[in-house]
Order: sequence, then C-alpha cells, then structure tokens
Amino acid sequence: MGILVGLSCWAFIIMCLNNVDCTHSEIIAEDLIAVSETDTRASSDSESSSCGCHSLKRDTVVNIDRKVSLLSEQAAVKYSKRANDGMEVNQEHSQDLDIPNKMVLIPAGEFLMGTNNPEIPQDGEGPQRRVHLDQFYIDIHEVSNQEFQKFVNATNYVTEAEKFGDSFVFEGLLSEAVKSQISQAVAAAPWWLPVKGANWRHPEGPDSTITDRLDHPVLHVSWSDATAYCTWAGKRLPTEAEWEYACRGGLSDRLFPWGNKLHPKGQHYANLWQGEFPVQNTGEDGYTRTSPVMSFPANGYGLYNMVGNAWEWTSDWWSIHHTTDELHNPKGPAAGHDRVKKGGSYMCHKSYCYRYRCAARSQNTPDSSASNLGFRCASHNKQ
Ligand SMILES: *[C@@H]1O[C@H](CO)[C@@H](O)[C@H](O)[C@H]1NC(C)=O
Repeated sequence: MGILVGLSCWAFIIMCLNNVDCTHSEIIAEDLIAVSETDTRASSDSESSSCGCHSLKRDTVVNIDRKVSLLSEQAAVKYSKRANDGMEVNQEHSQDLDIPNKMVLIPAGEFLMGTNNPEIPQDGEGPQRRVHLDQFYIDIHEVSNQEFQKFVNATNYVTEAEKFGDSFVFEGLLSEAVKSQISQAVAAAPWWLPVKGANWRHPEGPDSTITDRLDHPVLHVSWSDATAYCTWAGKRLPTEAEWEYACRGGLSDRLFPWGNKLHPKGQHYANLWQGEFPVQNTGEDGYTRTSPVMSFPANGYGLYNMVGNAWEWTSDWWSIHHTTDELHNPKGPAAGHDRVKKGGSYMCHKSYCYRYRCAARSQNTPDSSASNLGFRCASHNKQ
C-alpha cells in the first residue's frame, strides 16, 4: 500500500516533468491541495477557497522554479533571554537524556471542546460542545528522538518515511546541496519539498543528523509509526478530545494552554514562528526550528509544548462536522481518510497558520510525515 502511494507520487512527478502544460498554477487550480499551515489569507481567495488548508500528501508535488528561493539566509538566532529565565529546571531536565517520558494523570471531568469563535472555520473548530472524559494519563512532553531511538534499537522498526525513501521538509531548513537536487514542491505550499533520504534520523535529508538534538521531538513519523511506538511503550495515541482537554490545562474556553495572551508579561510561551513566513524566521523565541521537548513553561497540568514545536498526531479520523450533543469519551468518526493532528508547530505564525490554539486542528493522511510533525502518547494506566 505504502509502495503504491509512493509510486503514484513519483508517477505524478514524471508526468509533470514530461508535460509542458503541467504548470504550477494549473496544478494548484486542479488539485487545490494545500498543506498544513497553508496561508489562511490565501484560503479566502477564489482559487484556494475550497482547499481548506489540508494536509501534506505524498501525491501532491509539483515542479518549482529554482530561481524562487524562500529561504532566508540570515535568520538571526536571537535568544529570548527573558522568556527563558526561570527555566533552569526545564533545561536541567532536557539535558538529562535518560529521563523517559513521564506521564501525568489528567483527572476525569468535562470541558468545552472546540470554539464558537473559530479563527479557521473550515477546519471544523466549532461548534463548541460539552465533552465528558474519564481520567487518563498523558506524556508530559513530545516523544523525543532519544526515546524513539530506544524503540527502534529494541524492535528494528522501520518508519514509513524510510520505506518511501523520502519525506517532506520545510525548504528554509535545507542545505544548498540538498535543495539543488530537488525540483518538486507541494502545490499550494511550495515551501514544502519532498526530500530523498529525509527521515527521523536525518530530519533535513542525508547531510543532517539528530545527534545534537536527541532531546528534541522525533519528526518524520507517520500516524502509523506513532501508533507503533505508543503500542510498544504500552500506551496509545490520545484521542482528539483527550489531547484538547490536556492542552487546556484546566482553563476554560481560552485560546492557548496558558490563557488568552500570546506573550504573557512579554514572554514567549511556545516555539512558534517570529518574522515573516516563509522568508524570515527571526528566532525571537530562541529557536528557528524544533526546541527540546521540555522547553518553555508547562501548562496547568505540567505538560510541555502542547502548542508549537511539533504538530502532534491524535487517534481520531478527521471530520469537520461535529454534533453538539454531550459526548462521553468521544473517539471521532468511525472511519475516514485523514487523521487529526493538533497543536501547530515551530512554523506557525498568526498570518498564515493561526493553529497554535487548543481548539485548532488540522489533518494528514496516516502515511504522511514531515519536518514539523511528531506525537506524544496517552494511556489509561500509569506506566
Ligand atoms: C541505540 O543504539 C545505538 C547503537 O548501538 C546507541 O549508540 C544508542 O545509544 C542507542 N540508543 C538508545 C536510546 O538506547
């Protein structure tokens, strides 16, 4: 199945390469395939109004003009000192790579899921509905490279990106050497490039490694890979409802895990994009790509990076239609095409991907992987 998808992807590229009529704009108009974090402004213009800011899919690459580079060479690495003051405890933890992911108990309760003031209505952020949940445990941070390495060492697991031989990487992270070998991009979001040899061990392609970021979230893991990891660890992926309840940290109807202000007391509370997407990331929050899994302040439940850093897979199938009936332990639609991901990533900026809110959501096919997509696990029992 994976091989078939992979083949159709490359067949599509070859088709485009051989077809002079296969222009970028035609493909956009025909396919209307957007990726996560597509410009929400673009979604209001006629050409992409039906795109709904979807997912990265393995069969939606198009040719790109190599003369147009979206890379900002001078992304400053400004360290937001004030934001990181008082975070010594976190940094201590993040350097102790032997700490396995701790879980915290999220008490049973009810909460308001979604929002009646959707920022991105086409994502199905509304309507707000009352949801009751049993207690559950959830990882306090995203699964790290080191944790995933432990899993692979123990099981010889091969991820889908490794089987496909490629994965999506944000152009701004790629070396010139890798970029020069790529001639395709994602239709409605040309900053995504399918990079041969990109996978969890090599997040920006063959010339990159994870050795200097073992405490960062594992990336380039598909929904199936994430499920395999959680199962191995005696856990499971959280449902979307569990994830959102955990994100809210005990607060009701707030935008972010910590409240409604993006920068309380002028500080950064999440790893997001500062600057102008996609050309300039100033790194004002201290990071231009992922950050250690326990960076930035934890929310009321003690959970790190619920928004920003890496998107997180949930177990639910994707649908934008929700009942307003009160539900108990909802698990999402019985079937579907895409899986729900939550939380946004280090690439999110209000101008094009205002999805670092607890009610925000997006989707990808279960075999998709990318340089901003990871996961954390949940469980009914303490591990
Ligand atoms: C996985 O195996 C490699 C090679 O033996 C080793 O260097 C690495 O420390 C192991 N990782 C973990 C997390 O155990």
